[in-house]
Amino acid sequence: MYTSYFGLGEKPFSITPDPRYLYMSGRHAEALAHLLYGINESGGFVQLTGEVGTGKTTVVRTLLSRMPAHADVALILNPRVTPAEFLQSICEELGVPIGDAERRSLKLLVDALNRRLLSAHAAGRRVVLIVDEAQNLSPAVLEHVRLLTNLETPTQKLLQILLIGQPELRALLDLPELRQLAQRVTGRYHLEPLNREETRHYVRHRMRVAGATTDPFTAGALREVHRISGGIPRVINVCCDRALLGAYSSETRKLTARLVRRAAGEVYGRRFAPAWLGWIAAAVVALGAVTALVGGWRAWHDGLPAPSGTPDDAARAVGPIARGPATARTTD
Ligand SMILES: Nc1ncnc2c1ncn2[C@@H]1O[C@H](COP(=O)(O)OP(=O)(O)O)[C@@H](O)[C@H]1O
Ligand SMILES: [Mg+2]
Repeated sequence: MYTSYFGLGEKPFSITPDPRYLYMSGRHAEALAHLLYGINESGGFVQLTGEVGTGKTTVVRTLLSRMPAHADVALILNPRVTPAEFLQSICEELGVPIGDAERRSLKLLVDALNRRLLSAHAAGRRVVLIVDEAQNLSPAVLEHVRLLTNLETPTQKLLQILLIGQPELRALLDLPELRQLAQRVTGRYHLEPLNREETRHYVRHRMRVAGATTDPFTAGALREVHRISGGIPRVINVCCDRALLGAYSSETRKLTARLVRRAAGEVYGRRFAPAWLGWIAAAVVALGAVTALVGGWRAWHDGLPAPSGTPDDAARAVGPIARGPATARTTD
């Protein structure tokens, strides 16, 4: 196992979420602050989007561990359901007993939920609904979510809603039939992947938490991790885990860019060329294009009828772009 080989207490790049490994990049901190703001804000929705693997669920878990004491949370993780199932899940999360009558009637479900929200309000508590993978919600379910925000006292909305999802969630909320809901979104945050510097810190942070006392990743290897992963933490984990295994198998304690490329190639089943090769290829293509253009221009230019008559005639034949050279030839 590579852990003892690198002096680690455990595997540093496991993809299971573990709060001990949390790396609070500026973006993750902002996303968290955004959700906390959503909880304390009265009414409306707060939306958090980001590509798969950027750390949205990680942020939600951190939020849950820092939830204000006066908040009750309903967390829906798999919302690919009907409106009735969705409302039932919320009731179950909030400990609202539901009988057969409620199961058969959306109205009775909403009434039961409303009673729960009113009693929480009377007890000075705040109820928060968090929906992860919200891009999977159907428009019909989203319309019910919106109706839930109508539950209110004369002075206050009773339910805070946080919608977390992949970028498709933005497109979903842009649908004309959901514009009423979109108007109630009071805050939006898009979690971007890590930049090169943050990727470096992220990798080193995870290595340290796992017990590393030295840093086996060279600067070039870390640049390559960022280039290949696009700064997406889940992909970084997969690449680094495999690279450590690769180094262990090749009995080297230094992780180079080449080793990272090989590891990523094994995981993703394709070859990753070094960045400089990409630059050379781009330069060759650009050079080819310029040569072709110049060649084409020459061929076209050489195929022109021999100038006759006055310089003005020649200029008219060639047109405004070639006016200079054509005129010059007649004066030779
Ligand atoms: N800020 C972070 N700190 C530590 N690990 C992270 C962080 N963000 C993401 N990860 C790692 O990447 C994996 C994928 O993150 P996750 O929150 O599930 O992404 P998403 O929900 O956006 O698809 C997590 O299991 C975790 O290992
Ligand atoms: Mg997730």
